[in-house]
Amino acid sequence: MADTKKLYIKTYGCQMNVYDSERMAEAMGGAGYETTDSPDDADMILLNTCHIREKAAEKVYSELGRFKGLKAEKPDLKIGVAGCVAQAEGEEIMRRQPLVDLVVGPQAYHRLPEMEAKTQEGVKALDTDFPEEDKFEKLKGRPKAKRGPTAFLTVQEGCDKFCAFCVVPYTRGAEVSRPVDRILSEARDLVDRGVREVTLLGQNVNAYHGASTGGDSWSLAQLIWQLDKVDGLERIRFTTSHPNDMMDDLIEAHGTCSKLMPYLHLPVQSGSNKILKRMNRSHDRDSYLRLVERIRAARPDILLSGDFIVGFPEETEADFHDTMDLIEEVKYGQAFSFKYSSRPGTPAAERPLVDDGEATERLYRLQALITKQQREIQDSMVGREVSVLFEKPGRLEGQMVGKSEYLHAVHVSGSDAQIGDLKRVRIVESGTNSLAGVPILD
Ligand code: 5AD
Ligand code: SF4
Repeated sequence: MADTKKLYIKTYGCQMNVYDSERMAEAMGGAGYETTDSPDDADMILLNTCHIREKAAEKVYSELGRFKGLKAEKPDLKIGVAGCVAQAEGEEIMRRQPLVDLVVGPQAYHRLPEMEAKTQEGVKALDTDFPEEDKFEKLKGRPKAKRGPTAFLTVQEGCDKFCAFCVVPYTRGAEVSRPVDRILSEARDLVDRGVREVTLLGQNVNAYHGASTGGDSWSLAQLIWQLDKVDGLERIRFTTSHPNDMMDDLIEAHGTCSKLMPYLHLPVQSGSNKILKRMNRSHDRDSYLRLVERIRAARPDILLSGDFIVGFPEETEADFHDTMDLIEEVKYGQAFSFKYSSRPGTPAAERPLVDDGEATERLYRLQALITKQQREIQDSMVGREVSVLFEKPGRLEGQMVGKSEYLHAVHVSGSDAQIGDLKRVRIVESGTNSLAGVPILD
């Protein structure tokens, strides 16, 4: 029997890439590979890349350069690039970095084993197709390992929104939803392997409209209600949502579905109507604020998280002030903020840039406000009772760490909790990035 080969995967970017890396590891498992945490042991290195901002793409080239020595020592080592940079710049990568043996786009990775076989014959392989076949179906039936208590589950991919700054509609393609029965069977399989919480993933997850077995198209809320019936599955989350696709049934589910966690990532990007219009966001500041009000009416304790871009072309100090003002009004429990990064091929790339120093300064101001809000919300948890899904042992003896329903990390000492247990905990302290709690005895 041939020796097992080792695969090292490095994942950049969003949670969908984390999910895709797991699927690629499973696909390569069928081709005799097991994963390793060290590139030095690897027979194949795969970078699963992100193209969303310029820095993310540049990192890939510098990382590839670092493998030069390794490849010189080990000429049989195969180096592959997957993900969104592969999709957008596949041929350029092959030209610019001769070390690369294989380039695979996010829609073609079920073909990885065949591509790897080609590279073993000394032939370079590139596949950035959007094939007809369903990659998820092609990946079924691979050996299944035991899993931790939380998992991602892709339900929808791609985006038709075309925000003026964003490459996703080009790299991930048009919106496609997976059929309900396939998602349900994947969820049941995850539960059998130890998973108790799933995060449903999609670039535009709340635009989900998958085919049900009856043939009609189901909303994300309908899918969530079906997942609610899966025994052993205790928690459901979803990300990322667009404000325009927050339908009534989904808002209502936040108030009525006990497995749906009180946390919602709802990016607004900017608080200025002028900028929102130029971003082609198709919602304005007021419609977003009204939406937040309706969501909070359905689930008053929901923790909101957001994404912000500062320094979008032609953003003035007054526009930025509108964003800060919106943040003051909403109060976010978590947020991701970015300096605008011009992406070739997107409409915003044609517009005049804001001075870089100015944009950096705005980013710092915005992050300071978000950190303050995050901190206040985290501190307000002290004294409250939460449920914690335990994920791993803590650094201290006898300590366990898990996540609350609001996605706060919680350290608990003196609990008999095992990994995968859900237990009631009282929060006693708020630290820099996490909470401390004590067990509540039933
Ligand atoms: N520049 C800066 N941030 C961006 N994002 C997407 N495209 C860009 C860009 N060109 C941010 C948005 C999005 C998040 C995933 O990344 O805030 O919601
Ligand atoms: Fe990009 Fe906008 Fe689609 Fe989000 S909604 S993936 S920001 S185009």
